[in-house]
Amino acid sequence: MAFKGLVVLLTGASMGIGESIANKLAEEGASLVLLSRSEDKLAQLTKRLQGINSSGKVIYRAVDIGDYASVDSAVASAIEDMGALDILINNAGLALGAPARFPDLKISDVSTMNNTNINGMMFVTHSVLNRSMMPHKAGTILNITSITGLEVPPFPGEAVYHANKACQEAFSNSLRNELSETNIRVLVLRPGCVATNFHSLRVGHVKEKYDKFFEGFKPLEAENIATSAVYMLQQPMNVSIKAMDVVPSAQRSIVVFDRTWSKRNA
Ligand SMILES: *[C@@H]1O[C@H](CO)[C@@H](O)[C@H](O)[C@H]1NC(C)=O
Ligand SMILES: *[C@@H]1O[C@H](CO)[C@@H](O)[C@H](O)[C@H]1NC(C)=O
Ligand SMILES: *[C@@H]1O[C@H](CO)[C@@H](O)[C@H](O)[C@H]1NC(C)=O
Ligand SMILES: *[C@@H]1O[C@H](CO)[C@@H](O)[C@H](O)[C@H]1NC(C)=O
Ligand SMILES: *[C@@H]1O[C@H](CO)[C@@H](O)[C@H](O)[C@H]1NC(C)=O
Repeated sequence: MAFKGLVVLLTGASMGIGESIANKLAEEGASLVLLSRSEDKLAQLTKRLQGINSSGKVIYRAVDIGDYASVDSAVASAIEDMGALDILINNAGLALGAPARFPDLKISDVSTMNNTNINGMMFVTHSVLNRSMMPHKAGTILNITSITGLEVPPFPGEAVYHANKACQEAFSNSLRNELSETNIRVLVLRPGCVATNFHSLRVGHVKEKYDKFFEGFKPLEAENIATSAVYMLQQPMNVSIKAMDVVPSAQRSIVVFDRTWSKRNA
């Protein structure tokens, strides 16, 4: 019950890593504000989380985080319902058009990705800081970025995604400095290969390619990322795990996969 009494706002909550983080935090007693675009999925998830004995209050707001006005009014109304926000988890992310090379991407896909991955994160962070964390000078912001924020992955279709993730890393590092003289922590968690619909989008939803990508080893499960996020968030306020890379052990680096892993560890 490490999160009893804490209010967490989570973006990209309705599936994959976001859903898994929501689950773990509810089990640990947190109150949750879930944001994503999909009202149906949010309503179902909220109902399920409310059924977890230990969870605090759980509410949702269906918004497109790329639209500042709707983000800000969702955040304002969530604060009215729940009180101050203790933790913001920026998890929403988008990869479109893969595996097309950059010149083959539609400009509308470029804009949509930028809008969610960059503007969306900045909008949510701005609103949460302005309306809740800065007045209290306290809170924790955890950004789920990606190991691809640091290095370019070895397959086509990543130019925009990689650039977006690198921007998030840069933003996080600057923000951490700018929030000196407050008790607001800024942390990033960088997942490697995780078995989610999101990853399959990035290899283009082609089963053959997906299987080949994971030949000889298994991707992580969303739950592994959730466990790591909870670990980072559980540290006392005077300790920041500023960044954590979480990968399957076979993913030695962004370009080197140990494809003998499954054989050795069957
Ligand atoms: C949930 O709470 C009820 C009532 O307090 C209790 O009987 C039940 O065992 C709890 N379930 C779990 C999974 O903890
Ligand atoms: C990509 O994102 C940046 C930062 O938000 C923005 O300035 C730029 O216009 C975007 N590009 C496109 C094509 O949308
Ligand atoms: C995470 O990145 C987003 C945008 O890149 C930024 O708005 C936000 O402040 C960052 N937050 C943290 C905790 O790094
Ligand atoms: C910051 O929050 C206040 C309410 O506390 C609101 O009136 C104001 O519009 C917000 N600023 C921005 C730039 O959204
Ligand atoms: C953090 O706080 C704990 C308990 O108040 C204290 O024992 C510890 O020395 C502090 N550590 C740092 C790095 O400030």
